[in-house]
Amino acid sequence: MMEDANIRSGTSVDWDFVADLARRVFSAYGEYDRILPTCLDDPQFHTLVCEQEGRPAGFCMLSIGDGVGEVVAVAVDPAWQGRGIGRQLMRAIVEDARGMGIRLLLLKTATRNLSAQGLFRKIGFEEADREAGCYAAGQTAIGMRKRL
Ligand SMILES: CC(C)(COP(=O)(O)OP(=O)(O)OC[C@H]1O[C@@H](n2cnc3c(N)ncnc32)[C@H](O)[C@@H]1OP(=O)(O)O)[C@@H](O)C(=O)NCCC(=O)NCCS
Repeated sequence: MMEDANIRSGTSVDWDFVADLARRVFSAYGEYDRILPTCLDDPQFHTLVCEQEGRPAGFCMLSIGDGVGEVVAVAVDPAWQGRGIGRQLMRAIVEDARGMGIRLLLLKTATRNLSAQGLFRKIGFEEADREAGCYAAGQTAIGMRKRL
């Protein structure tokens, strides 16, 4: 477990990092490398970035609704995966959501993405529903929720 995670808010300074990482890990699901960076300076979204060795290593992005939030993406650079960064980002975004008055957190991930589902279950998310054909190549999504 990592001890010195350096988590800060993301801004448009992180545009290239978010675009590059989204291209690497989300291209099978849609054009997230184009969509996600545009959310960085949008007040309807809140982004956290985890830095390692002085450079961004992962991010997590929350869409802020009225009492309801959606974790629209969490991603860790493949070189840094498996070291607890995804868990720390998710824990931090849950705390931030709580502080914003959000009472229900939603997210979607591909049914095949078992590592992400493992992470989300550890954070306390439970399966709510499934949606066929949710992503670009027709992949099924699993909808998960967590009450805060
Ligand atoms: C999903 C992702 C964010 C996890 O980040 P990470 O920093 O590698 O994860 P952590 O090291 O914090 O692991 C937390 C938990 O996730 C699960 N997990 C992570 N990697 C896993 C793997 N390769 N296989 C199975 N479970 C895995 C485990 O439950 C793990 O808990 P454990 O260490 O107690 O077993 C990362 O793998 C990633 O960026 N994947 C590509 C993008 C993506 O699919 N995002 C999710 C959809 S939005």
